[in-house]
Amino acid sequence: MSAYDVIVIGSGPGGYVAAIRCAQHGLKTACVEGRDTLGGTCLNVGCIPSKALLHASHMLHEAEHNFAKMGLKCKSTSIDWEQMLAYKEETISSNTQGIEFLFKKNKIDWLKGWGSILTPGQVKVADEVHNTKNIIIATGSVPSSLPGVEIDEKTIVTSTGALILPKIPKKMVVIGAGVIGIELGSVYARLGSDVTVIEYLDKITPGLDSDVQKTFQRILKKQGLSFIMGAAVSCVEKIKTKAKVSYKLRKDGSDHQIDADTVLVATGRKTFIDGLGLETLGVTLSERGQIKTDEQWRTNVAGIYAIGDAIDGPMLAHKAEDEGMAAADVIAGKHGHVNYGVIPSVIYTHPEVANVGVTEDLLKKEGHAYKVGKFMFMGNGRAKANFSADGFVKILADADTDRLLGAHIIGPSAGDLIHEICVALEFGASAEDLALTCHAHPTYSEAVREAALACGMGPIHS
Ligand code: NAI
Repeated sequence: MSAYDVIVIGSGPGGYVAAIRCAQHGLKTACVEGRDTLGGTCLNVGCIPSKALLHASHMLHEAEHNFAKMGLKCKSTSIDWEQMLAYKEETISSNTQGIEFLFKKNKIDWLKGWGSILTPGQVKVADEVHNTKNIIIATGSVPSSLPGVEIDEKTIVTSTGALILPKIPKKMVVIGAGVIGIELGSVYARLGSDVTVIEYLDKITPGLDSDVQKTFQRILKKQGLSFIMGAAVSCVEKIKTKAKVSYKLRKDGSDHQIDADTVLVATGRKTFIDGLGLETLGVTLSERGQIKTDEQWRTNVAGIYAIGDAIDGPMLAHKAEDEGMAAADVIAGKHGHVNYGVIPSVIYTHPEVANVGVTEDLLKKEGHAYKVGKFMFMGNGRAKANFSADGFVKILADADTDRLLGAHIIGPSAGDLIHEICVALEFGASAEDLALTCHAHPTYSEAVREAALACGMGPIHS
């Protein structure tokens, strides 16, 4: 029996970051993980492997569509799927081993196995009970399916199965035009699959600025994805190695069917807290089955904290990381802080889509007086040179004070560009502050400055 200051349950981005921060505070820390490798969903079956496939498929797209324009000759392209999957696996293992290295460096014990909480001061892992002063629950989330849809991770898959398909499907149906459906759907479309996305709502990627939604869907259609909008999938039937998807159009209630070699169910994720023993401990859950915490990530049971996908808020790795650091700070007797108004979100397609702060739709709804500065990547020299001129930067600022309220980017490296606006928002900057900041030429980031200029005297290059 060992005595810890903190035991973190779960080693995803929330858990491993919390553990490292605890160790940095000088707290004796352990992290419980039942998978064979550290890193949780993100590193093993989420963000990292999907980004490897997105990168590889983008390279293929560049070779097939843009190489010849640049005078680069390649006789033909072909896909070695086994090698692509091996590259993805190597990407995963170099990242998960990186976390193991960080644990050793910070003297964090990895308690191997699935953990359960016996009392607020005792965590059981395998058959061993470990004493601890504090517990951080960082057990994340799992894909949620639909009633009438049985996942086999072969023909009817979640994002997990979609990353290890034995071959590239000829025909893929994606249920749900959210982040996962669009990211993985666009990977397979670029690899040659005929991809149809079925979405219940009338717009893709719920919650995004509607201007971005429209442009994004247009670009995705140009890339070969088909969309069936306003359609509720009611069941998916497996027929030998194929599947039949049944859906109802909301506008007229008509029933339809579509066949596929692979069906990707991407209709959301749900909190995973099974087997922790929370009911016995009396930990309060929300109606959605998530752990309830106060503003310092404390549950109602003293000494037990919760962060990331296990609690309320966007299911994003970086939100979990921030909460992990903040909860560790609180345990160490410091002040933990997360600015929930400045959490960027990124869709890793080509082009990328990124946003932070409020949407124009929300400002309109709230009757907030605002101004919009918009700049098309068509006016950005670097984007034109790189065949990446589709998309725009849109900045929203308060009409009276010029204070930045939000930004929405669709275009090259949007996921990186968004962070200068995150910093500006953190510092309460105005659009003029951004516009007055010198931006190096030629970079994509000039488009951010131009959008900020568009909130004032006007952009230069449009
Ligand atoms: P999502 O909630 O983003 O999208 C699910 C979509 O499925 C919605 O548009 C919904 O209207 C649709 N839908 C639900 N039931 C349906 C039905 N019966 N028929 C047709 N359409 C239906 O969920 P998603 O994409 O699975 O992502 C889950 C979570 O993971 C999200 O919180 C997301 O933010 C996070 N995530 C974030 C990533 C990123 O930041 N790049 C990458 C991957 C996941």
